[in-house]
Amino acid sequence: MNTQELMQIALDLVEFDAVPEDSAIYHPGADIRRLLFGLDVGTAELLLARQMGYDAVIAHHPVGVPHRSWRVFARHVDLMVGAGVPEAAARAAVAPRLAELRVGGQSRNYEQVPMAARCLGMPFLNVHCPLDELGRRVMQAAVDDALAAAPGAALNDVARALADLPAARRAETVVTVSLGDPAAPAGRVLVSHGALTNGGYAVARTCYDHGVDTVVYIHVAPGDLARLQTDGTGQLIVVGHLAGDAMGIEPYVDALRARGLVVDVLSQVLAAG
Ligand SMILES: [Fe+2]
Ligand SMILES: [Fe+2]
Repeated sequence: MNTQELMQIALDLVEFDAVPEDSAIYHPGADIRRLLFGLDVGTAELLLARQMGYDAVIAHHPVGVPHRSWRVFARHVDLMVGAGVPEAAARAAVAPRLAELRVGGQSRNYEQVPMAARCLGMPFLNVHCPLDELGRRVMQAAVDDALAAAPGAALNDVARALADLPAARRAETVVTVSLGDPAAPAGRVLVSHGALTNGGYAVARTCYDHGVDTVVYIHVAPGDLARLQTDGTGQLIVVGHLAGDAMGIEPYVDALRARGLVVDVLSQVLAAG
């Protein structure tokens, strides 16, 4: 298998017709049989892979595309509109952070890790948005099933449905009701994931203002949570970073293994085995 095919398998899992801006092949390669997957890959992990005899490395988080990955944050607009938020309000909520990410992306040394892969001759890519989109679908389906099984389900019931997923059960973090009364009805729930990073205060606030009762993030900055708590309205469930990312990474690793590849994962959470 080659690096192009490794990327294509991820795109096919979510019917994407192009590689999103937060994913890239940094050093192509072919005849790949044994590969190492990591949430975060730097030069150290590339050297580890070389030392342990792997043919290629796949990272989840973007490592060499900060100057363009910010565009993926705009997916928050689609997620919010899909949940019933008016498009103008969604765009207004997303714009400040989108601009921050765009400007911040100019400052980073985007070559550092990709150059290490080239020097080592180690095939290397990162697959981000397709796997998070996959995980979003897994989590939204679990939430929707819980709501369908028990109309009027409480916030706690929704949190439990997420916590029962295998990826969450492997994690040491706990799926947490971070905002709202756990016994209150969950109402309309948006799993907000797959848009580079969480939407912070503005996305959650705007959802609450437009009919979304509960937002699910995989992580949130403490300052954003504090602001939401100060507002005193809205409901938020936080899944946990590794658990949330595992929701989409595990099916991808399974798909690679089903094609006969040996895939070792630098994690006890992201995939079983
Ligand atoms: Fe992710
Ligand atoms: Fe992540």
